[in-house]
Amino acid sequence: MKFFLDTANTDDIRRAADLGLADGVTTNPSLVAREGRDFEPLIKEICSIVDGPVSAEVTAEELDPMVEQARRLADLAPNVIVKIPVGEVGLRAVRLLESEGIRTNVTLVFSPLQALLVARAGASYLSPFIGRLDDIGHTGMDLVEQILEVLANYDLPSQTIVASIRHPLHVLQAALLGAPIATIPPQVLFKLLHHPLTDTGIERFMKDWNTLLGRNR
Ligand code: G3P
Repeated sequence: MKFFLDTANTDDIRRAADLGLADGVTTNPSLVAREGRDFEPLIKEICSIVDGPVSAEVTAEELDPMVEQARRLADLAPNVIVKIPVGEVGLRAVRLLESEGIRTNVTLVFSPLQALLVARAGASYLSPFIGRLDDIGHTGMDLVEQILEVLANYDLPSQTIVASIRHPLHVLQAALLGAPIATIPPQVLFKLLHHPLTDTGIERFMKDWNTLLGRNR
């Protein structure tokens, strides 16, 4: 499973990249707003840190301005993926942009049928938001399971990015389902390395080692 970072924070992206854990990055308007920086220079900087796909989201809501904005974003760096919300305008934009060779990631997917339509439109990626489904009492991971099954039935080209991940268990569940990509917030990603038994194990090894050194001194 590929690990994308779900953040626009360049310190966190650098830290994950140094660990070999940043196969890509996803941003959205909320994540960019959290950084309080200008959008385009920020996306350029992220693209210079990470070789893999970097999603940057359009904010225009009508077709022509959306396509214009998408083309501009795609010009920022070769690894920019244009993120587009699912819907009628979004679907038309995806068909047009993918035919021009601009890769898209369709976001805010909450049903397997939305995913089927998005994949038929030729999107490179689609992003089901599992945490937000959990928030309203559904099981977000069921959606991922259904999407993967539907896409495999029809050999459709879109890759699924499991998004809106909230905790390590989501990452494990995505991996058990064989999801190709999970986009993970930094605070969840860095937790994956830790286990309290690892910490106490190291502590005990060091204590025993230092006892031996003291004895042999
Ligand atoms: O990639 C989607 C993600 O940023 C949304 O996460 O936690 O706002 O539902 P969240």
